[in-house]
Amino acid sequence: MAVRAIVVYPHPVLTTPTREVETVDDDLRALVNDMIETMRAERGVGLAANQVGQSVRLMVVDVSAGEDPEALTVLVNPRVVETSGRQNGEEGCLSFPGIFENITRPQRVVVEATRLDGQSVRVEGEDFFARALLHEIDHLDGIVFLQRMSPLKRRLVQRQIRRLKQAGQWPESVMPDATASTEG
Ligand code: NI
Repeated sequence: MAVRAIVVYPHPVLTTPTREVETVDDDLRALVNDMIETMRAERGVGLAANQVGQSVRLMVVDVSAGEDPEALTVLVNPRVVETSGRQNGEEGCLSFPGIFENITRPQRVVVEATRLDGQSVRVEGEDFFARALLHEIDHLDGIVFLQRMSPLKRRLVQRQIRRLKQAGQWPESVMPDATASTEG
């Protein structure tokens, strides 16, 4: 297992829809292990494969941020099949270091996916778990949380990123260490 570098916005892999996983092989299992290790190193609550530069429909999520081994969920080819309600809350993203904004999302979600062992799985999430699932599935669809902000917020954040870039303070990628907090 190895920690992988996290790709930072606006890398095109983040805004390109990922391709479906066709077979679960050793390479894919190795990628999953690396994604888990990378998420843990960043104290993240979720990670999509394209955030480590691999454009495949694969995600890991752990809303306990490593506290509860049972909370780790690996989803292959996840699809949102149902949403309901509405919630507003602060979100971060490992591909937008230091950026936190309120994002409105459904309060509840049902996701269908495949597990690593090939079994179909139906995952229901509410509240923060729903938010994490929706954030990561957005990544796999090539959608970043910037696109979920109001037009005004989006412009402000884009301006902030532009300024950080000009100041040489916006990286192209982040090599995780153990200093970050709960972001997805
Ligand atoms: Ni994210």
